[in-house]
Amino acid sequence: MKKLNARILSLLLLFTASGISKILLANEPDSVYFFSYATTKDQGRSGLHFAWSADAKQWNPVGNEFGYVRCDYGEWGSQKQMNSPYLFRDAHGIWHCIWSLNETGSQFAHAASADLITWGRQVYPYLPQHQTFRQPVVQYDKSNQQYIIKYLSGNQHFRIVTKDFKQFEPAAAISAAEYKDDRTTVNLPSGPATGTITRVAWPVIAQLTDVWQLAQYRSSQNRESFNTDSTRYGNLKQLAATITLQPENKKAISDLLIGVFFEDINYAADGGLYAELIQNRDFEYTPADRKYRDNTWNSKHSWATSGQQLVFSIDSTTPLHANNPHYAVLDATQTGGALINSGYDGIPLKKGDEYECSLFAKNSDGKSRSLLVKLVAQDGSTLAQATVRTRATQWKKYSTKLVAANDAKDARLELQPQATGRIMLDMISLFPKKTFKNRKNGLRPDLAATVAAIRPRFVRFPGGCVAHGDGLENIYRWKNTIGALEARKPQPNIWRYHQSAGLGYFEYFQYCEDIGAQPLPVLAAGVPCQNSGIGPKGGGQQGGIPMSEMDEYIQDILDLVEWANGPATSKWGKLRAEAGHPAPFNLKYIGIGNEDLITDLFEERFNMIYKALQQKHPEITVIGTVGPFHHGTDYEQGWALASKMNVPMVDEHYYESAGWFINNQHYYDNYDRSKPKVYLGEYASWGNTLFNALAEALYLTNVERNADVVHMTSYAPLLAKEKHTQWNPDLIYFNNTEVKPTVNYEVQKLFGNHAGNEYLPSNVKLTSDDEAVKKRLGVSVVRNIADGSVFIKMVNLLPVPTSIKLDLGSLGAGTKAERSVMQGQPGDKEVAVKVSAMTVTNELTDVLGPYSFTVYKISK
Ligand code: AHR
Repeated sequence: MKKLNARILSLLLLFTASGISKILLANEPDSVYFFSYATTKDQGRSGLHFAWSADAKQWNPVGNEFGYVRCDYGEWGSQKQMNSPYLFRDAHGIWHCIWSLNETGSQFAHAASADLITWGRQVYPYLPQHQTFRQPVVQYDKSNQQYIIKYLSGNQHFRIVTKDFKQFEPAAAISAAEYKDDRTTVNLPSGPATGTITRVAWPVIAQLTDVWQLAQYRSSQNRESFNTDSTRYGNLKQLAATITLQPENKKAISDLLIGVFFEDINYAADGGLYAELIQNRDFEYTPADRKYRDNTWNSKHSWATSGQQLVFSIDSTTPLHANNPHYAVLDATQTGGALINSGYDGIPLKKGDEYECSLFAKNSDGKSRSLLVKLVAQDGSTLAQATVRTRATQWKKYSTKLVAANDAKDARLELQPQATGRIMLDMISLFPKKTFKNRKNGLRPDLAATVAAIRPRFVRFPGGCVAHGDGLENIYRWKNTIGALEARKPQPNIWRYHQSAGLGYFEYFQYCEDIGAQPLPVLAAGVPCQNSGIGPKGGGQQGGIPMSEMDEYIQDILDLVEWANGPATSKWGKLRAEAGHPAPFNLKYIGIGNEDLITDLFEERFNMIYKALQQKHPEITVIGTVGPFHHGTDYEQGWALASKMNVPMVDEHYYESAGWFINNQHYYDNYDRSKPKVYLGEYASWGNTLFNALAEALYLTNVERNADVVHMTSYAPLLAKEKHTQWNPDLIYFNNTEVKPTVNYEVQKLFGNHAGNEYLPSNVKLTSDDEAVKKRLGVSVVRNIADGSVFIKMVNLLPVPTSIKLDLGSLGAGTKAERSVMQGQPGDKEVAVKVSAMTVTNELTDVLGPYSFTVYKISK
């Protein structure tokens, strides 16, 4: 709120400076009629709107249908509705708004605010006896000091009573006569609307208008783009900047600033970083993965047969493992048919490379049966083949090696029974021998190496929304992802495909170690994703893990620490050792929660987890969560909660336009250094052009300046497979054979490879005083204390060159310089980074090209 008032004040100053004064006028009314409503055009998704009138006839909108509070219930797209809001003020002057959520639910929503600007936590009370909840109205019962909410459910009328909007007495039926809907329909300039009318003092309208104007102003800033640069900087000529270092004001900064955010979104894991080439190897795809919207997404997905005499069916009577219930049954009446898998958009093969085909099989009659295993090219030619002899009547693993005779982009695997009869198969895998660092069950080397080249100081996993899942049942449980592959528990991916769990916690930790990054697992805070579509009966949106199960859940988190760090003799450390890693992984950070809705239910569970970790593992830095945006209720409530609980660090998320990043460079300057540190866990500007990348670079130069409070950052999302991309932009695109890093990636890589742990402030004197020009130039100087090398980063987001002069005399950093430059047209999507050697004396002089990012490394 303080922050908001400061913003309003700055807006007032801005308007005053520009002559559009919002100072209250002497002849404005003392009070007016005040109308609140949600528009039915979008089922209230744009939130609660206001209008005012002097005579209750002629209505004036407050802001242009600006949403002062929006519903946060349910899934994006279909939900987040605010239907029939009822706004009223309580006996203490607090505003309350109650609304119905949808046509079919038995929950409703409540939110409160002291000033109609800053709104508190939303709650969605559940009325289990109802099918629907509509048209709420509220009355105050003065004698009992309680509120009576009356509403419709079906054709019947009910009431519930509350004193605090937290506890509600059970619903009671009332007669139709007892229910009176006092909503009014008024004519607004945009058309008729139905809502509630009350009276407010004029300053309420004035303040609400200021908020809207501030939002308008900010959104015009956010639209800043290179398309209008020619008018914005029409007459601008080459500039000159003199940069004076102030090493006496140096400060220690985080040495973990650049990391990566890995989530299994866009086929980042299965079909992506995880090197497995067979899709649906475990026959566990299920229509539930896709919310039953795609019937072809089932146990047979990605599998086909050839030949008339081979019948392929799915069974689950005698599974290989309870976590992996489905398997394939092949009944051959003649030989010659084959079971076929085409991988993820085809199977890519490299001539001369070795692949291991493994499978579990059993034969009901125990007779020996051979399977001919073949890799077949699109033109039908055989690229490799081998024979697997199966005999067991119980599940048994068989494997064989295949060497590709040729390159192929889209080969297929064929399994041909060599005898008639029945054979059962599961966990049919084709794994390349060449994986990143040659790890077994490892990662695709080109992708893993591209990520590693950023030199990330940490890897966050497994999400994102995947971490807290779509409803309680879908919360990511790390224990389900370790151990034998056939015993791991696959599950639906919130991004509506399938997670095999082949890339599980062991593989994540191993990868971190292999690239010298800290592992940063993020675990659900006992609540599922705030955008879960599953209602409370399924324990989804606004449902938390039941209290009776919280101890077990917390124990899982404590066990993770033992699994990662405990001795090989400990219960969980033993599993790590058995998996091939007797030494501890040295886990230091754990994230709890992912941009959750900050509710009482969340707070209760977060508190329990945090306390338990603090008590048992004070050595672990816990990272809390503060919502999905850099503003709003979850951000404010999350920060207040984390500050109250002294959580060491919080995870901020924001995806914004390039204009936002350009115009918010001072975002962290005023952050209170005594409060929790920041992990900017998800951010990106909306685009993969050079302009976006440079806006991110500009912002990061400012983050470096604030890296005493911002300790970690990770661009999100990291990976996206072409044709399976659900979220844009991403950092690295890929297909089966190519890796396509973006210009945004190059920025991350330049920052990751030129990181320091000491910040050297500088003063920039530019030959222009125009703020619009000055803000497009970014400078950051950091030093690596260990070897004394200095990294100077300069962003020139202007359409003209800027010559620079920087006195290095006081640093004694050396004379050897390496310059890395990315420069191009702002709309470019591919820009090569050019690296050259330079010699510097006491002064660094150079010219920064238009739309460029330059990094100088100076060392002895
Ligand atoms: O990065 C993609 C998604 O954005 C993450 O899963 C989620 O946390 C955020 O909303």
